[in-house]
Amino acid sequence: MPAPEGTAHRPTHLSKKPIAVDERMIVALDTPSADDARRLVDELGDRVWFYKIGLELFMAGGYWELLAWLASKGKKTFVDLKFFDVPNTVAAAVGQLRGRGAEFLTVHGNDEMLRAACAEKGPTKILAVTVLTSLDEADLKALGFQASAADVVLSRAERALDIGCDGVISSGLEAARLRERLGDRLLIVVPGIRPVQNRDDHKRTVDVEEAFANGADYIVVGRPITGAADRRQAAMSIQARIVNLFEGGTGLQCPPPATNGTSFPGNSI
Ligand code: C5P
Repeated sequence: MPAPEGTAHRPTHLSKKPIAVDERMIVALDTPSADDARRLVDELGDRVWFYKIGLELFMAGGYWELLAWLASKGKKTFVDLKFFDVPNTVAAAVGQLRGRGAEFLTVHGNDEMLRAACAEKGPTKILAVTVLTSLDEADLKALGFQASAADVVLSRAERALDIGCDGVISSGLEAARLRERLGDRLLIVVPGIRPVQNRDDHKRTVDVEEAFANGADYIVVGRPITGAADRRQAAMSIQARIVNLFEGGTGLQCPPPATNGTSFPGNSI
């Protein structure tokens, strides 16, 4: 018989950082327009307090207005533009973010790019991208990497820490090794949250409990919520699972997880 939800993964590296439990899930606002994003945020209401806005909305227009609107609603924001350019350009781009209130910004580059970003970051925290969860060992090899995904992630995280980055984006599979090797000094933000049997573009995924058990401080969830028939219910289910992990089932404010999952294809997170 399968273990009940929330008990299958021993929380060996459960985050002790002082993060509000309802801010540990960051919802990826990957929508075709800023208006769609606003509708989704209104629908999710007080169930979600942290949003990531990335490339799709950046290209759709109204990005900065959306960022300000989210802040006006008391939401935290994560600017996920994965900067990758010569250090001077990265520094200038990071400087443009000053005063806009973003909590996190992603940079996807080598040491000099990360250093340039950190020099200009102000109060925004810099998260270094390690290895995208859509890449597996074969993809890395094709890109010219000789090392395993786990080794590339660890090496990039070590360098990010030395340089002064605040955290990393990492697959949940590699998070435990980062915690074991680097302790609590970096924030670990884990996207690619899926059931183990995954059928979309992610190849190195974990579920909610596994991500946190492996040491994630935050998880990023996109399509399992944005693609659900009932998006609010999908968000509530995940939040309930997080509350269960961090508060041992006390203070549960959301209904218990849906047993049939969301309508996301192949998804039962
Ligand atoms: O829809 P899904 O849950 O896959 O959304 C994940 C989000 O996290 C997307 O916005 C994607 O850009 C981002 N992501 C990331 N780094 C990864 C994998 C996904 O920033 N390694």
